[in-house]
Amino acid sequence: MSSTTAVFSPAQSFLEKTKSRQLRVGVIGLGYVGLPLTLLFSEQKFHVTGFDVDRKKVGALMAGSSYIYRILPEEIAAAKMSGFRATTDYSELSQLDAIIICVPTPLNEHHEPDLSYIENTAHAIAPNLRSCQLIVLESTTYPGTTEEILIPILEKENRLGLKAARNGVAGSNTFHVVFSPEREDPGNTQVARRDIPKVIGGLEPLATQYASALYNSIFNRVVPVSSPAAAEMTKLIENIYRCVNIALVNELKLLCLRMGIDIFEVIRAASTKPFGFQPFYPGPGLGGHCIPIDPFYLSWKAKEFDFQTRFIELAGEVNLAMPYHVVSSVAQALNKRKQPLNGSKVLVLGLAYKKDIDDLRESPSLTIIELLQKGGASVSYNDPFFPTVGRGRHYDLQMASTALSEIEEFDCVVIVTDHSSYDYPDIVRRAKLVVDSRNATEGIAAGNIVHC
Ligand SMILES: NC(=O)c1ccc[n+]([C@@H]2O[C@H](COP(=O)([O-])OP(=O)(O)OC[C@H]3O[C@@H](n4cnc5c(N)ncnc54)[C@H](O)[C@@H]3O)[C@@H](O)[C@H]2O)c1
Repeated sequence: MSSTTAVFSPAQSFLEKTKSRQLRVGVIGLGYVGLPLTLLFSEQKFHVTGFDVDRKKVGALMAGSSYIYRILPEEIAAAKMSGFRATTDYSELSQLDAIIICVPTPLNEHHEPDLSYIENTAHAIAPNLRSCQLIVLESTTYPGTTEEILIPILEKENRLGLKAARNGVAGSNTFHVVFSPEREDPGNTQVARRDIPKVIGGLEPLATQYASALYNSIFNRVVPVSSPAAAEMTKLIENIYRCVNIALVNELKLLCLRMGIDIFEVIRAASTKPFGFQPFYPGPGLGGHCIPIDPFYLSWKAKEFDFQTRFIELAGEVNLAMPYHVVSSVAQALNKRKQPLNGSKVLVLGLAYKKDIDDLRESPSLTIIELLQKGGASVSYNDPFFPTVGRGRHYDLQMASTALSEIEEFDCVVIVTDHSSYDYPDIVRRAKLVVDSRNATEGIAAGNIVHC
């Protein structure tokens, strides 16, 4: 009797291993994007290894704790039961079948793309690369990054002479590359992560097929596009659309304030139109790792093509002016009470860039605090998500959250982040003056509220 053993092609093997959960997945960068992604794969019983250069994060995860507010330690514990582990040791990458990169893509001090995190990650992957691995870049970036930055480093620095599979040529001396943007909306409890379709742009069809199979295990729908550049551009168009529309309502809010019209009432009424209008809301300025940054990745790249992205520049100008508008509204409101900003005690409510989240990256609150301090005000803040604030990329505040019980002691309270936990009627009742940049006090009739 002879026994036959099935011999799988690399493609069949990848797809079979995905189905049977034998596929070993690595996620590089365990931040707001990478850690939740890791947990999604773990929930679906994949063995996931997480990589980060931050030893504190790796240590916390291995100890079963979480450093992201909305991720509970129980979820980390459950993932560990499914085989999840975190490490700083890149040599473990060679044992994996799929490697997903979720590292930061900020702007540098000249407002230009800072790709150093992607480059450093590529340098670290390359010596550990092996044939048939799938490499996915999820970090938001300009069209061309995957092909112009990531692939050349991987091809040049791997030890086996491997090339990225392209033009239908895939074999034992190739690896596969995909760009697949992250589309999460932090704090959104209405749309489950699983229900956000995953856009996938492979360098060639097999890469797209591998990544589609992998992401189909954790998302309900995948949306293949023809190339990494198309996927890179898809993410940017989504964020530019938001950035430009927010700038539009911010500008129209300034006009409405002068005309004595309530912009929020107007947006509510316009939203009843069943087609052709999507509501965006004005605020104190843009924040987060995406909307204030990503559009400028495209503006920068566009210059290579002698092209000016005028909508992006104009939106940036309008949005960047909003924190200044909030501060001048505080000064004017105090002035009406015959008080100068200089020497006044001001309490800023909310540090996070949007409500109910623990992320203060690029938050307008940070700019507003600095501008108020420059104007001579004595500034405090309250934020349930941030008991203290120290040093970041663009600020060094070294402050601790002030208890709301002290609200009566301030000359002015500025609502910058409309966290749901705040009791706005109580805040208005106890504060001398409230400047509201978020319409959080809507429906409260009181003479001490100034909408801005
Ligand atoms: N936060 C969001 O809501 C969001 C949404 C969509 C897209 N994105 C994009 O996803 C990417 C990641 O964003 P994030 O919010 O998760 O950032 P983050 O700063 O929260 O996390 C990034 C992690 O990468 C780690 N890291 C940096 N260099 C590394 C390296 N060489 N090797 C291993 N780890 C490294 C950092 O220590 C950090 O833990 C960015 O490109 C961002 O634009 C973010």
